[in-house]
Amino acid sequence: MKNRFSVIKEHFEREAAVFDKNFARFAPRYAEVIEALVSSLPFPKGRRISVADLGCGTGNITKALLKKYPRAHVTCIDLSGQMISLAKAKLKGCKNIEFHVADLREFKFGRYDAVISSLVMHHFEKGDKKAFYRKIYDCLKKGGVFYNADITLASNRYLQLMYMEKWLEFLRKGCSPAEIKRMLNNHKREDRPASLMKEMQTLAKAGFKDIDVIYKWYYFSVYGGVK
Ligand SMILES: C[S@@+](CC[C@H](N)C(=O)[O-])C[C@H]1O[C@@H](n2cnc3c(N)ncnc32)[C@H](O)[C@@H]1O
Repeated sequence: MKNRFSVIKEHFEREAAVFDKNFARFAPRYAEVIEALVSSLPFPKGRRISVADLGCGTGNITKALLKKYPRAHVTCIDLSGQMISLAKAKLKGCKNIEFHVADLREFKFGRYDAVISSLVMHHFEKGDKKAFYRKIYDCLKKGGVFYNADITLASNRYLQLMYMEKWLEFLRKGCSPAEIKRMLNNHKREDRPASLMKEMQTLAKAGFKDIDVIYKWYYFSVYGGVK
């Protein structure tokens, strides 16, 4: 059987070209999520900060970040070479951007004011999260921040079923039944979301303070903390 990250890599290599066209139909309130991530960075607008965008995909988060921080140095990392190629094209002409095709679990981080990530961490096994959040903590400068947008499970079965129903209502507005079926199959095969409460605890165990939930829409949350 194929290892789950090989399946994830193949998925994003295959679908990179249609990612931007599709993603706002698949991920509810994607624009608001990006806005929440970028707004959470506590540094004055325009400051030259160093940022890592984990699982940068086609570069949507970095593109939004550069509007607030045009002088930022951004390290964009993604497992998929196709996603990185599209990110390079989208961010062409932007200075101080590094691109890496790499698995985050093995990537040697630099030193950052902020680490941001959108809809990536749910690929990680729950048991690997604490060590990975500690790795993020260690690469941050003092006062640095980690903010993560992700799928997060509810705290009980009733709420989880309701979250799924809300997501399905959203999907039905923009996707065909075949697309929804394919997406839910991918979700089951590739994703391992943790509950939001568990994520808060894992961040605390990794050393973060001022842990907070900045944005939430049922199954989707933006949260993080400060070093
Ligand atoms: C749903 S996309 C999100 C892309 C982007 N962050 C955004 O919000 O537009 C998830 C991305 O995470 C990347 N990814 C998943 N697991 C990864 C890993 N272990 N290391 C690096 N990238 C990973 C995938 O290749 C894919 O581009």
